[in-house]
Amino acid sequence: MSTSITLPSAHDFHLHVRQGEMMEMVTPKIVEGGVSVAYIMPNTVPPIKTTEQALEYKSQLEALAPQVTFYMTLYLSPELTVEEIRKAAAAGVAGVKSYPRGVTTNSDSGIESYEIYYPIFQAMEEVGMVLNLHGEIPSDPTNDICVMNAEERFLPQLEKIHHAFPKLKIVLEHATTKAAVETVKRCGDTVGCSITVHHLQLIVDDWAGQPHHFCKPVAKYPHDREALREVVSSGHPRFFLGTDSAPHPRHTKETSKANAGVFTTPMVLPYLAKIFEEFGHLDKLENFACQFGHKFYGLGPREGFVDNGVTLVKEDNVVVPERYPVSATNESAGVVVPFLTGKNIGWKITK
Ligand code: NCD
Ligand code: DOR
Ligand code: ZN
Ligand code: ZN
Repeated sequence: MSTSITLPSAHDFHLHVRQGEMMEMVTPKIVEGGVSVAYIMPNTVPPIKTTEQALEYKSQLEALAPQVTFYMTLYLSPELTVEEIRKAAAAGVAGVKSYPRGVTTNSDSGIESYEIYYPIFQAMEEVGMVLNLHGEIPSDPTNDICVMNAEERFLPQLEKIHHAFPKLKIVLEHATTKAAVETVKRCGDTVGCSITVHHLQLIVDDWAGQPHHFCKPVAKYPHDREALREVVSSGHPRFFLGTDSAPHPRHTKETSKANAGVFTTPMVLPYLAKIFEEFGHLDKLENFACQFGHKFYGLGPREGFVDNGVTLVKEDNVVVPERYPVSATNESAGVVVPFLTGKNIGWKITK
C-alpha cells in the first residue's frame, strides 16, 4: 500500500544559491526539491547592491533553471539610495535584505542605527518593496548577548520598524524562537515570517558538535521548536516556507570554525513531508509551502507558467545522498553534504 499526496509546486521565500560552480550545481536542484518560485538572497561576493547586479544575477539563474520564477533582493547597506530603490522596484526587484553586520558599522548600538535607513524604508513602503530582516543582533558578551538570545533581543527592533512604517511589508526571516512567533503574531498584517525546514526539526543539541546542523540563527530550545511547529500546525497565514538553504563545501563545515548553513534545496518537499507527518499535520503542508508566502507577498500570476504540481510518495527506503559534488570536472571544488545526509526520510517526489 502506498500513500501519496499531490501539491502545487512549492515556493521558497529565502534561499542562497551562490555564484560560479556552486550556483551551477545548486540552481537546477531547486526544481528537484519540488520548488518553482525562488526568492534569492543577495549575500554573494561581492553582495548584490544594485538593480543592475540583481538583473544580471537573475538572468544567470534563469539560464540554469528556466522553469523557476526568481525573485531578487538587494543587500541593505549605507550605499543604497532612494533612487536605487525606485529603480529596483520598477525593474521588478522584490525586496531588500538587511543583515545585522551592515548595521553595526554606523553605530555603537546596532539597534538604534536602523534609523539611518528610514528614508530607504519609506521609499520601499511607497513602491511596495519588502524588507527581509535577518533578525539577530550581534553577539556582545559584556551584555550577555550570544547566539541563543540574539534573535529574541532583536524583536523590539522589528516592532519599532513596523510601527514606524505600518504599510511596509516586513518578513522576519528564518524565525527560531517562541518569542519571534509571538511577536510576529502580535504585529499587523504587513508583517510575515519565514520558517526553514531545518528549524522545524532541530534543537540546540542537534548542532552542538554537528557542523552540518550549524546555521544562523542557530536552532534553539525544545519549546522554541514546539512554537514553530504549533504556529505552522495552526495554519497561520503569515508563517510560510523560506528554507534558508545555504550550501557550503564540506571542508568549510568540517573544520575548527564551521561555516553556518544547512543545505536542503534538492529535497525540500520530501523533508517537509517527513517532518509534517511526524508532528501530525501533513494537511498543513500545502498552505505553508505553496500558498501563504505567495499571498503575503501579493505576487501576481506567473506569465506562461503551467504548474504540473508535485506528487510525493511515501516509500520505505528514501535515503538522502551523502554528498553533492560542486563540480563534475573540478574535484578541488569539493562536495556539499545535504541535510539529514544518509538518512531514510521516507518520502520522495515522483513525476
Ligand atoms: C551572515 C549573517 O548572519 O549575518 N551569515 C552567517 O553568519 N551565516 C550573513 C552574511 O554573511 O552575509
Ligand atoms: O546559516 C546561514 N547561512 N545563515 C545565514 O544567514 C546566511 C547563510 C549563508 O549564506 O551561508
Ligand atoms: Zn539571514
Ligand atoms: Zn539566509
